Amino acid sequence: MKKILVTGGLGYIGSHTVVALQQNGYSVVIIDNLSNSTIETLEGITQITKTPPEFERLDVRNKNELSSFFEKYQNIEGVIHFAASKAVGESVENPLLYYENNVASLVYLLQECKLRGIANFIFSSSCTVYGEPDTLPINEEAPIKKAISPYGNTKQICEEIISDFCDVSAFNAISLRYFNPVGAHDSALIGELPVGVPQNLVPFITQTAAGVRDQLSVFGDDYPTPDGSCIRDYIHVVDLANAHVKAIERLIRAENSKKFRIFNVGTGKGSSVLEIVAAFEEVTGVKLNYKIVDRRQGDIIAVYADTTKANQELGWKAEYDIKVALRSAWEWEKKVRGLN
Ligand code: NAD
Ligand code: WQD
Repeated sequence: MKKILVTGGLGYIGSHTVVALQQNGYSVVIIDNLSNSTIETLEGITQITKTPPEFERLDVRNKNELSSFFEKYQNIEGVIHFAASKAVGESVENPLLYYENNVASLVYLLQECKLRGIANFIFSSSCTVYGEPDTLPINEEAPIKKAISPYGNTKQICEEIISDFCDVSAFNAISLRYFNPVGAHDSALIGELPVGVPQNLVPFITQTAAGVRDQLSVFGDDYPTPDGSCIRDYIHVVDLANAHVKAIERLIRAENSKKFRIFNVGTGKGSSVLEIVAAFEEVTGVKLNYKIVDRRQGDIIAVYADTTKANQELGWKAEYDIKVALRSAWEWEKKVRGLN
């Protein structure tokens, strides 16, 4: 069995990817420092796959611990690097934390890969690198816009670091630019666990429906879009997880592989905030208490992916629509709140 290291593997996207990897015949070792996840997720993964992944609690920023880890696990074939901090607002308040946790730890990990001859690497990037697109849907050739937050900047810098490293070494890397991941595993055994007040739309919706929040604020209905609210490409986290399996397969086969490749991972379909609210009400039967408020500073008006490249070169395509994703998000929220 090929062994894959998943950093941040107890986090939201990482945990779903661990499940997908195990279900596709990979063995997995997870590194996580539990800074934004809980150890119970390991139990959730194990309940789904019936196979406990190996787990080491460590911080990727700790060079010594990282080195000892690679001494212990000699047979790693590929790395999927999720571990990072991801709160945009926090990154504005504390940019150094973001440059250390997202950029420095990538460098340490690449140094270990170089030392150990590990050549396959997948990086978690984001559609945030595109900023406000000039054309829609957006493909991978679109220009990178100046980042509006340190978080977004870390994704741009990390892609450049990986690209520079690939230029001078026998290293195969893929950067997956995620659009907006939503939903949870259909077992409701793993899902998203935001700390504090959710910044993202779907967790705020499910928490409002569950009575944890009083009211959802819809940030603006005066944008130049059909219903005036912003448009995003919401992708089911299970589809996103499967894209990683396709990407690691592609790297290991290294068939026609260019050294550094970038793929959009979205559905190709845009949905507005008000459409998401309506779809949630329809699939769950729960009426949402929401009100239109002012625009949120820094929001992109509309962005959705051209996924042709991932469809053709990874043989991957999103299977689930937004309604399936929203239903799974609600099932997970009910489970977390004991509402079932
Ligand atoms: P998450 O916070 O749920 O998962 C990240 C995991 O990494 C957590 O379990 C956390 O404890 C761990 N971690 C953080 N720093 C670490 C460190 N120094 N050492 C060890 N473990 C560490 O986030 P997520 O939503 O699963 O995102 C995963 C990746 O995808 C991140 O790189 C994020 O920037 C990227 N991404 C996320 C989104 C999104 O909307 N969720 C969109 C685009 C890109
Ligand atoms: C989606 C839409 C909001 C909350 C952020 C990061 C980005 C990326 C994904 C990682 C927007 C609206 C939201 C609410 C609302 N992460 N909204 N009320 O803005 O696409 O991107 O997450 O890389 O870097 O910036 O996602 O879920 O925050 O918002 O009306 O309470 O929902 O205005 O139009 P976004 P989001």
